[in-house]
Amino acid sequence: MSTTITLTINGTERPVAVELGDSLLEVLRREGFTSVKHGCDTGDCGACAVLLDGDAVDSCMILAISTDGRAVTTVEGLETDGHLHPLQQAMIDTGAVQCGFCTPGTVMTGIDLLSRNTDPTQDDVKTALAGNLCRCTGYVKQVDAVLAAARQMKGGPDA
Ligand code: FES
Ligand code: FES
Repeated sequence: MSTTITLTINGTERPVAVELGDSLLEVLRREGFTSVKHGCDTGDCGACAVLLDGDAVDSCMILAISTDGRAVTTVEGLETDGHLHPLQQAMIDTGAVQCGFCTPGTVMTGIDLLSRNTDPTQDDVKTALAGNLCRCTGYVKQVDAVLAAARQMKGGPDA
């Protein structure tokens, strides 16, 4: 059985058809937000992370129908006036993007951290990103990217 909910996705309110058992991940991908990656489907890899009312969540673990009236942000909503979010740019600049499969989820998790902590330590970043698995990078560059983005967002020197 399907029903229609209202979601604000990347700042635009829209009606979205959902089946009762759909995850938020399935619905977002069906709506064309394919930055949200389908990894483990069990809440273990972080590839599907999005912001739900500003907090990073694993969208595979959220029933879409429970998100009626809420706001979702995906990577597609980060660009402003043709500019990448500072964390997206830092991920590129530090070489933290290799195959890229984990990158959207890592970026959304990092943005959640930076929204709560503008001056994170390396340990803060490691703790925040602990649920975002990456087969390629060894994680060092991703941590460096979040620290560089924090510096840049505070107006300090770039990475
Ligand atoms: S696909 Fe959601 S945590 Fe892995
Ligand atoms: S860059 Fe390939 S899984 Fe992270």
